[in-house]
Amino acid sequence: MSYLKELESWVNEVQGLLGNAKLDDNQSKLWRNQLDELKDEVKRLKAKEVITEKEIISLQNKGKQISNRFMYHNEKRVIAYGEHKLPPLPYEYNALEPYISEEIMRLHHDKHHQSYVDGLNRAEKRLYLEETNKETLKHWLREQAFHGSGHYLHSIFWNNMTPRSTKKPVKEIKRQIEMDFGSWEQFKNKFSDVANSVEGVGWAILFWNPPSNRLGIQSVEKHQLFNIADSIPLLVLDVWEHAYYLQYRTGKDKYIENWWNIVNWNDVNQRLLNAKHL
Ligand SMILES: [Fe+2]
Repeated sequence: MSYLKELESWVNEVQGLLGNAKLDDNQSKLWRNQLDELKDEVKRLKAKEVITEKEIISLQNKGKQISNRFMYHNEKRVIAYGEHKLPPLPYEYNALEPYISEEIMRLHHDKHHQSYVDGLNRAEKRLYLEETNKETLKHWLREQAFHGSGHYLHSIFWNNMTPRSTKKPVKEIKRQIEMDFGSWEQFKNKFSDVANSVEGVGWAILFWNPPSNRLGIQSVEKHQLFNIADSIPLLVLDVWEHAYYLQYRTGKDKYIENWWNIVNWNDVNQRLLNAKHL
């Protein structure tokens, strides 16, 4: 019982801190919802006569996850060379089911994304913290491009998805898509065609291009080839096999079709607003 009281006062404390944190509206709303859910869970357990160990552990894990996510997003700090860390998922591993399975999310986030973070850290240490070795310079530059792009694209990808999708674009991104592509349907079809056209491994990316003040769509091979300069990714879709194969096998087109159900249009909209203010 004393643990529940402590947890309850921690939730109250964090809710108070949210008022001063540098968070945009969407992030702030997300934290508030997660904290409200945790508070409800504490209340429910407090009302019970017997609380099982399993329930306590599950509650502890939820609290830990929320606190990790909060710490990560609230730290607007300089990341030293070779010190990148895997960002926590903004939702539970099973939150995107049935569209993306828990098994895929665990492997994709914990193993694949972690390996890009490790690879980027390795490359940065060689490139920036050691004397230049001209023999291996190109190798480490290639490693930086591959793992760096992998790390940054996956970091965008997780936040581009949500179990509470509006299913269709909202606000400014809706207006911009209609202005540049004619309609939401036309954009969706073109983006899906681009994603399906990726040969082997890569991404489909909706980007904002400041020099021309308009949106564009680009496929990227691996994480870094075909890249387009001076453009800011707003919405990215991972079409590497590791993103869908365990669930969809060779049905890449079905994965792409289903993925539209979990797009976080509020996040895409916020990225567009930020990109326009650069
Ligand atoms: Fe991936």
